[in-house]
Parts: sequence; C-alpha cells; structure tokens
Amino acid sequence: MPTLFDSIRIGDIELDNRIIMAPMTRSRANDAGVQPGFAAEYYRQRASAGLIITEATNISPMAKGYVRTPGVYTAEQRASWRNVTGAVHARGGKIFLQVFHTGRIALPDFLPDNAQPVSASNVRAKGQNYTDAGMKDFVTPRELTAAEVRQTVRDFGTAAKSAIEAGFDGVELHGANGYLVHQFLGTNTNLRADEYGGSQENRARFLLEVLDAMSAAVGAEKVGVKLSPSVPFNDMQESDAEEFYPVIIEKLNVRNLAYLHVGFEETPTTEINWHKKLRPLYEGVYFANGGFTKATGEKLLADDRADAIVYGTLMLANPDLPARFAKNAELNAPDQATFYTPGEKGYTDYPTLEQAAAAPAWRAS
Ligand SMILES: Cc1cc2nc3c(=O)[nH]c(=O)nc-3n(C[C@H](O)[C@H](O)[C@H](O)COP(=O)(O)O)c2cc1C
Repeated sequence: MPTLFDSIRIGDIELDNRIIMAPMTRSRANDAGVQPGFAAEYYRQRASAGLIITEATNISPMAKGYVRTPGVYTAEQRASWRNVTGAVHARGGKIFLQVFHTGRIALPDFLPDNAQPVSASNVRAKGQNYTDAGMKDFVTPRELTAAEVRQTVRDFGTAAKSAIEAGFDGVELHGANGYLVHQFLGTNTNLRADEYGGSQENRARFLLEVLDAMSAAVGAEKVGVKLSPSVPFNDMQESDAEEFYPVIIEKLNVRNLAYLHVGFEETPTTEINWHKKLRPLYEGVYFANGGFTKATGEKLLADDRADAIVYGTLMLANPDLPARFAKNAELNAPDQATFYTPGEKGYTDYPTLEQAAAAPAWRAS
C-alpha cells in the first residue's frame, strides 16, 4: 500500500509525494487580479508538496466573487502567475491553477459596471459576502441564456490554455463549494427548463462541457476537477446527491482526466462516507480532502480509499509540511485572522522547522 511519501503519476507528470496543497483563496492580488511579487515566495515555500493547487482564479471579469482574487484573463495577470510557476519549478515543484466562476456568489461590487451576477437560475443565495465596505447580502442573479452558457464554457477553455501559457503543469476546475459549476449541479440552484436543467444528465451537462472545453484546449491529462457532494456551503442543496454523483463519476471515467479531487470545506448534509462511496467508482487518480491529519491521511491511503491526500490549513501554516510529517514534528497553527488580509503577514512568514529552530535570528530578520 502506498504511503504519503510515495510518488504518483498524474497525467504525464510524476509527483514526488502524495501530500497535496489544497486550493486556498488568500486575497493578496490587486484590484486588477494581478498577483504581488511575494505570491511567488508563498508558493515557492510550499513547493515540497507533491502538487500545489493554487487558490481559485477568475476566468473572466464576471467570475469575480471575492476581494483581491487573482485572474488569468489578462496578460498582466498571466505575467504575475509566470513568476509563481517559475519559482515553484525552480524548486522542483509541480503546480496546477484552480479556475472558477463564482456565479451567484459574486456581488455587483466586484463586477464590471456593478453588473448583476449570473447563475444557472435566478435564485438568490441566503447569506452574505465580504466586501471592504463590510458584509453585504447576496443578490438575485440573472439566469444565463443558453448562448451565454456556451460562451462561459468557451471562457473556461480559454482559461485553461492561458494557465498552460503561464507555465502551470495543469488546471483544476472548481466544481465544488457552491460556485457556478456547482450551481448547475444543485437542485435548489438549477431550475432551468432547457438542456442545462431538469434531468440529472442535463444538470451535469455544464460541468462536462466545461471539462471537455478545457481538455480540448490543453489535453485531458492536464485537467483535474474538484467536487464537494452535498456540501451546504454557499447555500447549496443537492437533494439527489447520493444517486447523482455516481452518475457524474461514470461520465468522468471516460474522460481520462489527471485526477478527481473530492473535498470538503464543510461537513456534508448527508451521512454518506463519500470517499468510501466514490473512490471505488472512479477509475483514475483520486484525491481526498477535508480535515485530514498525517495519521488519518495515511490510514485512508492504507485502506485504498484515496491515491493522495489534499491538505488545506495544515499546508497554509506549514510551508514544509512533508518534512514535518516525515519527522513527526510539531506543526505551526494557522492564524485565521490573516487568511484573507492583504500583505505578507500570515502569508510568507510561517517558519519552516529550520527557521523555527533558529527562531531569534530568523524573527529578527
Ligand atoms: C483560507 C481558505 C481558502 C480556501 N479557498 C478555497 C479555494 O479557493 N478553492 C477551493 O476549492 N477550496 C478552498 N478552500 C477549501 C480548502 O481547499 C479545503 O477544502 C478545506 O480547507 C478543507 O481542508 P483542510 O481540512 O485540510 O483544511 C479554502 C480553505 C481555506 C482555509
């Protein structure tokens, strides 16, 4: 049975280990979606992960749903990402760009000309989103026309191509956590009467067309996808998740993607053990995420319920997480107060084991 420290092949690249860095929004970009120079240092520090999956990145101006999030649709944005990919590769790391469209989770504040956000249907999410002017209620989105849906599919294909141009090893589609792709999958968010709504086949159509557009642009072996069945985050409901996700997995099986990433930011509303249920159905590489420690991750691999484990907050706070796991060393605690704040504090200043050992000198520098 593999351990966290065994290599693994995804698509046409070899990962040094099975400790994967989870995609995590950090809100350090500028208002034009351009990453600061120190983003390259943040990702470089974490290059000993088998694979880095970046924070969710906007595919177009209408995709933006959070302050200071990066994009990949302008030359300046791509140039800033090139610094990141160059720094990670110089340390021998591998890095995929996570791409998303936030759909109804966007606020007019983030969109061109304060536009109304778009979604599968005109159903407002309950809850609020953060802006620099304080928390604001979500607004009722406008239902995308079928032509606009097809344009958005093409935008994802373009984003995948742009990611490879910016030096990424591949691209992960964010199909989780209640953003646009998930809004098409959900039973409360997709009330469409056309070929993108109604039956399970129709609700899965947008996800599959997006994956096919991305695969056509860069090759399926460079495309991964993240799903989060029955996660209630962002006011999602999936009343038929137990039957629907196996259908989705069946459709993914024929697509030969780099990997399937099943991740949980919040506890699912169902009692189902999703990794146990979905892993045997998926014929490719399976990444599992959601609250894992070294011990529970090792156990999942040993039980053959995943091929690799995706770590979020542990990787955020421990740039040298694989080395710490290998030595059973103490871990830095994540500082939630700086998850989304601008600047380098809580971003590039988590110490490695060596830096912690040399703490006085390191802290003074
Ligand atoms: C600060 C922060 C930002 C996050 N941003 C994203 C994101 O951009 N895309 C995504 O798919 N998940 C995002 N997540 C969820 C993580 O990828 C992961 O699913 C979650 O942290 C659970 O894993 P963990 O228990 O190992 O931290 C974020 C989580 C955190 C803590």
